[in-house]
Amino acid sequence: MESKSPLNKENIPEHIAIIMDGNGRWAKEQGKHRLFGHKNGVTAVKSAVEGAAELGVKNLTLYAFSTENWNRPKREINALMQLLVNSINNETKTLNKNGIRLMAIGELSSLPSSCLSSLNKAIKLTEKNTRMNLILALSYSSRWELVTAVKQMVKEALEGKFKLDEINEDFIQSYLTTANLPNPELLIRTSGEMRISNFLLWQIAYSELYF
Ligand code: FPP
Repeated sequence: MESKSPLNKENIPEHIAIIMDGNGRWAKEQGKHRLFGHKNGVTAVKSAVEGAAELGVKNLTLYAFSTENWNRPKREINALMQLLVNSINNETKTLNKNGIRLMAIGELSSLPSSCLSSLNKAIKLTEKNTRMNLILALSYSSRWELVTAVKQMVKEALEGKFKLDEINEDFIQSYLTTANLPNPELLIRTSGEMRISNFLLWQIAYSELYF
């Protein structure tokens, strides 16, 4: 991929997060079905992943399916899950070839079993890759993440595993799904909507936002 403008290679973000939005509206504008938009979304994901890896970004997090997305029509959910399974199955080899490690955050247990098993298989097959982490946020929302983290913290506190004084920002961060990742320096949302939509609320406290 060729860059459009000269880039300062010394200043590449370590972590970029993307809210993938607008597939449906883009398809409608072309007079096509929403699924056509999602299929083209997969093509866009591929070039974003390739571009990020080439630039030396170490972590790329994609908001692929939010907890709110479960409210979409069942047919669209099924189609999205199928698209996800196919993409993961088709791309694992390329991920390995390019040194990209697949990871996932979110309430993964709520994914259909075929999706979860493809995901886990690809996660396992790419776990030794170190060039870039590709983190899929699936059935993810930030409030879900915070509720889960608080429950776990309170459980451990009741078991006497830590003292109140030990709680600080790093401590809280260590209970999040992104515990071992740096916070994103850059958050991008496609489609033109200027909202965060329950994505990485804690982690983007200091991120630059690009809509
Ligand atoms: C947002 O467009 C996009 C999604 C909810 C799904 C994106 C997921 C995929 C393309 C599946 C494959 C993903 C990977 C990582 C391979 P929208 O439907 O919200 O568009 P709209 O706002 O115009 O309705």
